[in-house]
Amino acid sequence: MSVEQAEVVEEPVDDRSKYAGVLRFYNLAKHQEWMLRDLPWGDLPPVPEGKGSPQRQARRQDVWRSVVMQQLQADVLACEMAAQLLNAAPDPEARLYYTTMVQDEARHTEAWLKLIGQVGGEGERDPHLDALGHMFLEADTLEEKVFLMQVFFERLIIPRFRLIARSSRGTILEDICNRLAIDDGIHHGAGMAYERVLLENAPKSVETTLIDAANRMLPEFAAHALWRPKAREMIGHLMESRDRERLKTELDHGVRLAQSLGLNVSEVQLPF
Ligand SMILES: [Fe+2]
Ligand SMILES: [Fe+2]
Repeated sequence: MSVEQAEVVEEPVDDRSKYAGVLRFYNLAKHQEWMLRDLPWGDLPPVPEGKGSPQRQARRQDVWRSVVMQQLQADVLACEMAAQLLNAAPDPEARLYYTTMVQDEARHTEAWLKLIGQVGGEGERDPHLDALGHMFLEADTLEEKVFLMQVFFERLIIPRFRLIARSSRGTILEDICNRLAIDDGIHHGAGMAYERVLLENAPKSVETTLIDAANRMLPEFAAHALWRPKAREMIGHLMESRDRERLKTELDHGVRLAQSLGLNVSEVQLPF
């Protein structure tokens, strides 16, 4: 081999093929993109309509309003998180992808704002959701941010959308939940693809950071999942054991996701 050839061989190859997964989710996101005007505003009721006395109907609307409020709060936080990811990611493929996530979270917020305007306006905030948001926003590394938001939160939230959709058939709320379940599936998939690439190049110490982050997040996620605003306190008590069962399945799933990224999850402590 001549000196010239050796130089060519030793030059670091900028292999972008490992980002193919992230790019695939960019294309998927572009394909799935929807507009606020695609929703059947005016054709369907915003949330399920109550029966019975005006007081009973008002109480029921208050319950739905609190459901919408929690989602609105989550998506406003998601806008800030997605913008952070776009700013923090150094790889062009990931930056391209994050532009779609910023737009998605803004559009989700837009839909919730419009919907909540039709059911009485904003209400009580979930303090655990705010705490989760802070944990994410204050995380030091990109690996941690992708892990907390996309690997865990985006995935754990999808069954909630399906659940709300099932109990609000024939409403705008159902339509939004179905769209968001698909969008968040893409956000999660993209995060898994990107986290794999990031972990390939990361020092071993990053793994400990991620497990610590998971241990900080899981109890707060559990508190969020079981939290009920005043409007839902009554129903909350009735459903608590079922909620705990569901939460347990979700948390187990979260641990399996970490495992599938090659992390040693033996140090993960489940809240119960
Ligand atoms: Fe969202
Ligand atoms: Fe999302």
